[in-house]
Amino acid sequence: MTAQEALVAGVRRLVASDVPGAARDARVLLAHAMEVPQGRLTLVLLDDLAPEAALRFEGLIGRRCRREPVSHLVGKRAFYGRDFIVNAAALDPRPETEVLVEVALSQPFGHVLDLGTGSGCILVTLLAEVPHTVGTGLDFSAAALAVAARNATLNGVSDRAEFFLGDWSWMNGVTEQYDLIVSNPPYVARSEMAGLEPEVRDWEPRMALTDEGDGLGAYRAILRSAPAILSRDGRMLFEIGPTQAEAVGALAEGAGLMLRAVVKDMDGRDRVLVLAWS
Ligand SMILES: C[S@@+](CC[C@H](N)C(=O)[O-])C[C@H]1O[C@@H](n2cnc3c(N)ncnc32)[C@H](O)[C@@H]1O
Repeated sequence: MTAQEALVAGVRRLVASDVPGAARDARVLLAHAMEVPQGRLTLVLLDDLAPEAALRFEGLIGRRCRREPVSHLVGKRAFYGRDFIVNAAALDPRPETEVLVEVALSQPFGHVLDLGTGSGCILVTLLAEVPHTVGTGLDFSAAALAVAARNATLNGVSDRAEFFLGDWSWMNGVTEQYDLIVSNPPYVARSEMAGLEPEVRDWEPRMALTDEGDGLGAYRAILRSAPAILSRDGRMLFEIGPTQAEAVGALAEGAGLMLRAVVKDMDGRDRVLVLAWS
């Protein structure tokens, strides 16, 4: 069987399982199974597919039919121009989160704390973008922290990053002052979980998605503890759900912080809050 024939059969199976983007996904998975860069796939499509690659491709297509995310199947995802290891232990980095990174990079900082660091995509990117900065990632998932530590190494910032296992309600072990605190906490309300895409609902860690309440619980908890370690000239940045700007802004003001800006994502939806002491 040629690679092209396998590709056609793979697309058919994905379409039959109602997987969106079947043609694109099948190409990515075939390139992964054949261990060729995606950009070179067209050049090898007329070649015979080696039996091991055919088996690998079959297996990947089967998993994709069960809506396992492509990033989990290939084990990585690009975020802000860098590769990140991705698996079921940590939230798959999202393009919306690049907006938070962009906002964070718009002003100088030296010491950054990432609350709910997950894959480490925010912290690692900030450290990689700005030389000589140092930072801390906190998460209450040991499995996610293991992924974050690998991503720090992969992207050459492990000597400037430290990771703490803990809950942001108590800030276990985190006692220093930070001039930048960032967080993309779980902000999906429990009642909204059923409406998520299967790739997210069934394959992402649930505790990375929802607070099991109204979607604001993480902001309430962080705003009770984090202001104590935000320096007087520091900024706190939150990624939010598109309908949450007003409510989270009010919570921040209740904690003594000022809402400096609401930044929109590429689709024009409210996505990042910028908070500061004045
Ligand atoms: C939406 S994910 C964000 C992951 C990553 N920062 C990103 O932007 O892709 C939220 C993260 O917060 C962590 N988390 C949830 N509740 C927590 C808590 N109470 N204390 C610390 N981390 C928590 C989850 O384990 C998850 O890794």
